[in-house]
Amino acid sequence: MVVNTRVNIAGVVFVNPVIAASGTYGFGREYSDYVDLNKIGGISVKGLTLQPRLGNDTPRIAETPSGILNSVGLQNPGVDAFIRDEIPYLKQFDTKIIANIAGNTVSDYIEMAEKLDCTGIDILEVNVSCPNVKKGCLAFGTTMSGVAEVTKAVRKATKKPIMIKLTPNVSDIASIALSAEAEGADAVSLINTITGMVIDVNTRRPVLANNTGGLSGPAVRPVAVRMVHEVYKSVSIPVVGMGGICSAEDAIQFILAGASAIMVGTWNFNNPRACSDVAEGIKSYMEENSISDVSKLTGELIMNGD
Ligand SMILES: Cc1cc2nc3c(=O)[nH]c(=O)nc-3n(C[C@H](O)[C@H](O)[C@H](O)COP(=O)(O)O)c2cc1C
Repeated sequence: MVVNTRVNIAGVVFVNPVIAASGTYGFGREYSDYVDLNKIGGISVKGLTLQPRLGNDTPRIAETPSGILNSVGLQNPGVDAFIRDEIPYLKQFDTKIIANIAGNTVSDYIEMAEKLDCTGIDILEVNVSCPNVKKGCLAFGTTMSGVAEVTKAVRKATKKPIMIKLTPNVSDIASIALSAEAEGADAVSLINTITGMVIDVNTRRPVLANNTGGLSGPAVRPVAVRMVHEVYKSVSIPVVGMGGICSAEDAIQFILAGASAIMVGTWNFNNPRACSDVAEGIKSYMEENSISDVSKLTGELIMNGD
């Protein structure tokens, strides 16, 4: 049967619901020898800051069971270099461009949103959830008032659709999502990484130079699926789900829980073709189960007891 894998998020139509997660796909270019970027719904680029950043000291990655702990610390060339060097490259492909921005202050977010407003990006992903920088970012994302303040300011600064990226390091993620929606967010994406620590028992020191880092990969998936479902039940805007997706089956869990699209992150390091493999797998699942339109699966979870 002919199936429709296209999804519409805030008026932006993606060829399929699979997006590469920020920080795990560079600017797309890095994967282009392995993957046809036209086959990926979208790419959320490495988190951008107003000025270039070298990131944190090394070691910045520690492997953990079924996951990794990272404290990269937003290494990136800065928003101006992205606009100049990377947008023209990405524009060649039939993949949507999501610019992920992180600020120390509200005015950083405003300035970046204004700079990106007249570029060819499709969606602005506002990262209020990076656990690996000393100032701003996660500090905004852990309170309703912080998320509201940043969302309101970015909403005013751009006509592009805005998607607020939420942290799981909170007790009630649904309330945080509601405060983003109330201030004009077009979508929310979740989850960013869960703050953790790995200790070397011989040196008695944390393995990461930054001491703590963010946990991602399959280890976080059940937490992420639960949070996507909680947020989906609370808000009316689209939810983009991620956390430990390695296969089409994992992706479909998120879609059933309420995600309109999904992102693949850490698994790109294991399999550089993960995004296109997941997209192919979703299409096969739809054909096998006679699902004509992928968006019809969103939120179709049947809870036990219902
Ligand atoms: C090495 C690394 C770097 C990341 N950098 C960013 C970033 O710059 N901005 C951001 O919003 N999320 C960043 N993330 C978080 C991912 O986009 C994603 O939210 C998280 O890893 C959960 O998905 P996953 O388990 O599929 O990786 C990063 C994750 C990793 C592993």
